Amino acid sequence: MATPLVGIIMGSDSDLPVMKAAADLLEEFGIPFELTVVSAHRTPMRMVEYAKQAAGRGLKVIIAGAGGAAHLPGMVASITPLPVIGVPIKSSNSIDGWDSVLSILQMPGGIPVATVALNGAKNAGILAASIVGAFDPAVGKKMSDYKKTLEGEVMKKVDKLKEEGWDNGFDH
Ligand code: RP5
Repeated sequence: MATPLVGIIMGSDSDLPVMKAAADLLEEFGIPFELTVVSAHRTPMRMVEYAKQAAGRGLKVIIAGAGGAAHLPGMVASITPLPVIGVPIKSSNSIDGWDSVLSILQMPGGIPVATVALNGAKNAGILAASIVGAFDPAVGKKMSDYKKTLEGEVMKKVDKLKEEGWDNGFDH
């Protein structure tokens, strides 16, 4: 089995329904990844060990998801030299999602976490794939193709609206 390049971690298995979107994206891109539960509050020593070993085990980027008082992404980022992408999750212990967003986003200078939108695990996967694509040309090509596909889909919508008789005033 190929060495995982991306580590997906989350505070609880209750985060998996959201975090699965990151795994699905990496699978689509053929990027080897690993996925497990690491809790900043319930397994702090496991979190420290995971973050300490990540780079040495061959990971290139970590995606960390957590809800409520979401300290996992920031704490992992404080230990590992790898880029960390944080996914705020609207969990059962979250007031309205803002608690998780702000816990992950508002990092002190020196310890950034690349924070995606609330429940934005798919974008976390895309960002991780972009990072891998920066040094792996095959993945980089897939990322370019993916973006072209998105563009094509939007242009189909532009055409559809035109066909329905809307004058967009731009594409003549
Ligand atoms: C956070 O608490 C986890 O990341 C999860 O989002 C939330 C709830 O965890 P469980 O009580 O469902 O295990 O640390």
